[in-house]
Amino acid sequence: MKILFLGDIVGRSGRDAFVERVPGLRQQLGLDLVVVNGENASHGFGLSPDMARAFLAAGADVITLGNHAWDRRELIPYLSEEPRVIRPINFPPGTPGLGAVVVEVAGGRRALVINAMGRLFMDPLDDPFRAVQAELQKHRLGQTVHAAILDVHAEATSEKQAFGHSFDGLVSLVVGTHTHVPTADHQILPGGTAYQTDVGMCGDYDSVIGMQKGGAALRFWRKMPGERLAPAEGEATLCGIYVETDDATGLALRIAPMRQGGRLSQILP
Ligand code: FE2
Repeated sequence: MKILFLGDIVGRSGRDAFVERVPGLRQQLGLDLVVVNGENASHGFGLSPDMARAFLAAGADVITLGNHAWDRRELIPYLSEEPRVIRPINFPPGTPGLGAVVVEVAGGRRALVINAMGRLFMDPLDDPFRAVQAELQKHRLGQTVHAAILDVHAEATSEKQAFGHSFDGLVSLVVGTHTHVPTADHQILPGGTAYQTDVGMCGDYDSVIGMQKGGAALRFWRKMPGERLAPAEGEATLCGIYVETDDATGLALRIAPMRQGGRLSQILP
């Protein structure tokens, strides 16, 4: 299966880049599955149902979320009608929406996508490791699902690496989101799972993690509430990771970074 996972869409520039480029990338790379993190799409905070619909129409198969899942409240009822938008699986029992979904792709193949949120330097939540383990017990990689993607929305590189090794051989890809800066450690782990600590954002990189640099930097100079942060508006770089998997095992055959548009160095798989 040919999979592209794209990082956190930040604001209008990220949204525009996704909608403009993903249909072409789907064709050019022959993609079977596109997953994107959408939790910062709405002015940096949350995702509206209209934006989710636009991303799905442009070629996203699944949209994941994170700590900003509830910033746009209209998304809460939408989650029960649109299972392809998932929130972290380790929210407490009874939280609206689901933390995992199985979607069908070309050829009747099935792909599992799970969203989990870290606990280090983040709001306390249920144990993400045990929550993911419990979800994986419902599926068999290479049998009931042909691929499995795990988005670990987390701050700490250590926690994300611990995730990669914990689920090596059990999923096709463990990829980190949330820090908005791509790491260069993409690799296939010894057990066959593709891994990258953070995929980076789809946003303007002349910024502080996607937000306008002046106001964001000032917050570090002065420990006072400053102006409200707003997304940077320059051309976005779409940051993603491309993975090819073996349908018979669900494990990775190839991993390659993708960066298109905007300021970062350009690379195609
Ligand atoms: Fe986040």
